[in-house]
Amino acid sequence: MAANLSRIVVLGSCSVDFTTYAPKLPGPGETLHGYKFTTSYGGKGANQCIAAAKLGGNTAMVARIGDDKWGNDYVENLKKFNVDTTHVHITSDRGTGIAQINVSKSGENQIVIVAGANDVLSVDDVEIAKDLICNASVLLCQLETPIVATKKAFQLCKGVRILNAAPAASHLDKELLSLTTILCVNESEASVLTGNPAVTMSDIAKAIEDLLRLGCKIVIITLGENGAAFASIDDPQPLHVMSDKVTAVDTTGAGDAFLGALAALLAVYPDTPLKNAIASACKVASVSVTKEGTQTSYPHIPCADLLSDKCVFEKIL
Ligand code: RIB
Repeated sequence: MAANLSRIVVLGSCSVDFTTYAPKLPGPGETLHGYKFTTSYGGKGANQCIAAAKLGGNTAMVARIGDDKWGNDYVENLKKFNVDTTHVHITSDRGTGIAQINVSKSGENQIVIVAGANDVLSVDDVEIAKDLICNASVLLCQLETPIVATKKAFQLCKGVRILNAAPAASHLDKELLSLTTILCVNESEASVLTGNPAVTMSDIAKAIEDLLRLGCKIVIITLGENGAAFASIDDPQPLHVMSDKVTAVDTTGAGDAFLGALAALLAVYPDTPLKNAIASACKVASVSVTKEGTQTSYPHIPCADLLSDKCVFEKIL
């Protein structure tokens, strides 16, 4: 199976993460002593793009940043990983998006985002990037930028269209879903989207069934340390992929590591069976939680080294 240089386009957010590390997550009204503070590059879109780039993916980003120091530095950060930034535009009247993140000693996180410039990524921006988007092997979008722009991009793209419905949404545009090749959510996002709990394996199987009925072709639910489950319209029996057991230090952006890896594998090795690509993406997410931060925690290895047939798949139900 030969690798090719097929393009991965990420239409999505670039944000600056302000992260505090503390023994536990604060409750409502609680003030805690933390032990560390960092500022770093984040945003689900850019995280996924960098995760794909670090695995050797040929990546491009369509995004908006503010006319501030953070925005200008962000472009340099993307370039450092060979991301094509031709379509990363500066918005004069908004600041670069930010995320305020708390991480506990056990690696759990809570995040509040303020979209800033991410909120003005427009249909016009998509039109300007039309050639890039039309010819992408994989187009990857999230819900941190306006849905109208995502929908336009999905209408244009002839390749694999992946929608990471994060942050959680209780409703998704029907046409957008019918244009979606792969819908990927975590358990809590699946629960918000279906209106049902997504806790037990039988809940997960039911959620996959419900989400497939919304109109996309493939549904993946990521399960944190328990790997991922998925099914497709063509093969509706849900499969569970286990991930490696690791000690989590910081789970922030693990879902983004999974999505970036999945996009890279599908672009570079389009003939890879989906279950192998998902298993490999789980491995990348597992590595990412063993280090602090998002983009800085993603592994820098060639895609080919990720593909292995030593994965465990179990049928659900
Ligand atoms: O998924 C993690 C990301 O969510 C963080 O980098 C933060 O910017 C928020 O967008």
